[in-house]
Amino acid sequence: MAAVTNAPFRLVARECGAGVLTSEEIDARALVQGNGHTVALARYLPEEHPIAMQLLGSDPDILAEAARRLEAGGADAIDLNMGCPVAKIVAKGQGAALMRDPLAALLILRTLRKAIRVPLTIKIRGGWDDRTVNAVEIARLAESEGVDAITVHPRTRSQQFSGLAPWEIIASVVDAVGIPVTGNGDVRSHDDARAMIRATGCAAVMIGRGALGAPWIFAGLTVSREEKARIIRRHCALIEASLELRTALVQLKKHLAWYAGGLPFAARMREELFGAPSAAAVYDVFWGIW
Ligand SMILES: Cc1cc2nc3c(=O)[nH]c(=O)nc-3n(C[C@H](O)[C@H](O)[C@H](O)COP(=O)(O)O)c2cc1C
Repeated sequence: MAAVTNAPFRLVARECGAGVLTSEEIDARALVQGNGHTVALARYLPEEHPIAMQLLGSDPDILAEAARRLEAGGADAIDLNMGCPVAKIVAKGQGAALMRDPLAALLILRTLRKAIRVPLTIKIRGGWDDRTVNAVEIARLAESEGVDAITVHPRTRSQQFSGLAPWEIIASVVDAVGIPVTGNGDVRSHDDARAMIRATGCAAVMIGRGALGAPWIFAGLTVSREEKARIIRRHCALIEASLELRTALVQLKKHLAWYAGGLPFAARMREELFGAPSAAAVYDVFWGIW
């Protein structure tokens, strides 16, 4: 998840039990041009293996060059983002816009497949809108171009994040291809994950928002309050150790606000957290109420 699943959060998720980690979306062109912010997004910690790096782009050659660099940097898989619904992204023909243009998608996948040896995966949506639900078509095309696995978030681009994720679309992709399909959408617990596997036959489950403020979701056990506090402290320490000062402060506030989500006075705490001028002040607010 963009601006969320950076190295500290991913590593905490791994320590809680997550299998494969995926980077946030990385703009292929900015990476190839050496943009400092983008290059920083592509960094990961050695303990994060196996880790997939997700690319965003529409130009096959630029995507291929970015993928080669990420592979050379040790990425265990390259994932192509075909699901991002954000207006300024789809306006550039990227993200979910690739679902609308199977020929462009085919050309990109063919070029990417030739460029790298590590697994090539894609993340798709159900389709562009209600009238063009084409996840199965895109999945078949991807399989025939040598894509190794597919993640399906079955809402369409027009749905953005509204309504329930129509898991039956995941099932139809599972039925249509022989490569592993990861299901994604609205999984908030291990019970939900099991229900998704039962309902769709998917080979794996990807969790996004359900992990915000709750990376212990990957543990699948009841986690005590003391253990949660330990995980939160570990997450904060990783943020401070691996992110640049200003980014670290923003990330501390964001994640601690999520961790505070269920607590009484959470709304007031959020306000105080976001107003805090330093990491020390942020911790005073959070641990004062936790
Ligand atoms: C803040 C935010 C950022 C996201 N960024 C990305 C991204 O960079 N790449 C991606 O494939 N999906 C991204 N997503 C979509 C999620 O990966 C996931 O498909 C979606 O949230 C549905 O799954 P969930 O119900 O488990 O959250 C993002 C979602 C959110 C809420």
